[in-house]
Amino acid sequence: MVDQMFGENGMAALIQSALCEVVFNRPVNDRYRHLAVVAPPAALAAAPGQFFQLLCPGNGEGSHFLRRPMSVYRVVPDACRIEFLYKIVGTGTKGLARLSEGDRLDVFGPLGRGFRLAPSLQHVVLLGRGVGLATLAPLAEAAAKRGVRVTALLSAARRAHVMSVEHLRSVGAHVQVVTDEDGSADPASVEERLRVLVERDGCDLIATCGSDRLLQLVRRLVVELSIEGQVALEQQMACGIGMCHCCVRLFQGSEGPEARRVCHDGPVFDVRETLSW
Ligand SMILES: Cc1cc2nc3c(=O)[nH]c(=O)nc-3n(C[C@H](O)[C@H](O)[C@H](O)COP(=O)(O)OP(=O)(O)OC[C@H]3O[C@@H](n4cnc5c(N)ncnc54)[C@H](O)[C@@H]3O)c2cc1C
Ligand code: FES
Repeated sequence: MVDQMFGENGMAALIQSALCEVVFNRPVNDRYRHLAVVAPPAALAAAPGQFFQLLCPGNGEGSHFLRRPMSVYRVVPDACRIEFLYKIVGTGTKGLARLSEGDRLDVFGPLGRGFRLAPSLQHVVLLGRGVGLATLAPLAEAAAKRGVRVTALLSAARRAHVMSVEHLRSVGAHVQVVTDEDGSADPASVEERLRVLVERDGCDLIATCGSDRLLQLVRRLVVELSIEGQVALEQQMACGIGMCHCCVRLFQGSEGPEARRVCHDGPVFDVRETLSW
């Protein structure tokens, strides 16, 4: 199945369903796994913030009827590989966790609109909680490649659940970790850190994913400090291509609240347009 939709910065991109060979599928800690598959050229064009619909194996014969959305965590063009970082939560991701090297996974994408990096960008701050980090990691890589300073503020319940610190440092990001364990992840402390970062280093963009509380904090701060804010939303999805309206949420439009499809109009949005629900 091949189709055309919009990728990074609204550019048309090829969408494809492909049966991809699993290169590895290894545990990162007791909750998360890291999966890599060999992917066709269209998939390798995935932009930061875009996602794939994965046809997860079922608990026996066949697969789940509904695909599960998963952000692209990493693209390694030289090895023709795309990678995912996922949390095991239910039957779909449990099925994913059973895949072994050499198995095949049906991958559909890349889908949605990703993060937008303005040419004038000088310093981006990433604020990720839990698996939201998987969505922000390729943004760190893309921004750093453009010579943009990147600070990643990673939030997790426990230090043992913080992932990808080495990967983010290897792409040039300055990493800070906050946890519930030591109280540093509470919104007031995170706000203090963000204010210091913006005042001390300047910041053009705060990008966030993985927590509604952090989204609310970012929305308030970017309005007050007049900087750009983008959020990658995780919404339950079915088709992933704008047809079923399963993922509709309300956003602030120019003439009041309006319904948008997270899979098609996002999943990355301007934080100023998001509404709490
Ligand atoms: C655009 C997008 C990107 C995502 N990227 C990642 C990622 O990189 N890594 C990752 O671990 N997870 C990601 N998710 C969430 C992931 O899709 C869900 O965890 C997964 O679909 C759960 O499927 P399941 O069958 O294991 O669980 P289920 O048994 O279906 O559900 C278990 C729990 O997960 C919730 N859930 C189910 N589907 C979704 C969904 N689509 N979005 C949010 N919550 C859901 C359910 O409400 C339930 O509480 C992303 C979701 C979206 C929409
Ligand atoms: S998941 Fe079907 S329209 Fe978004």
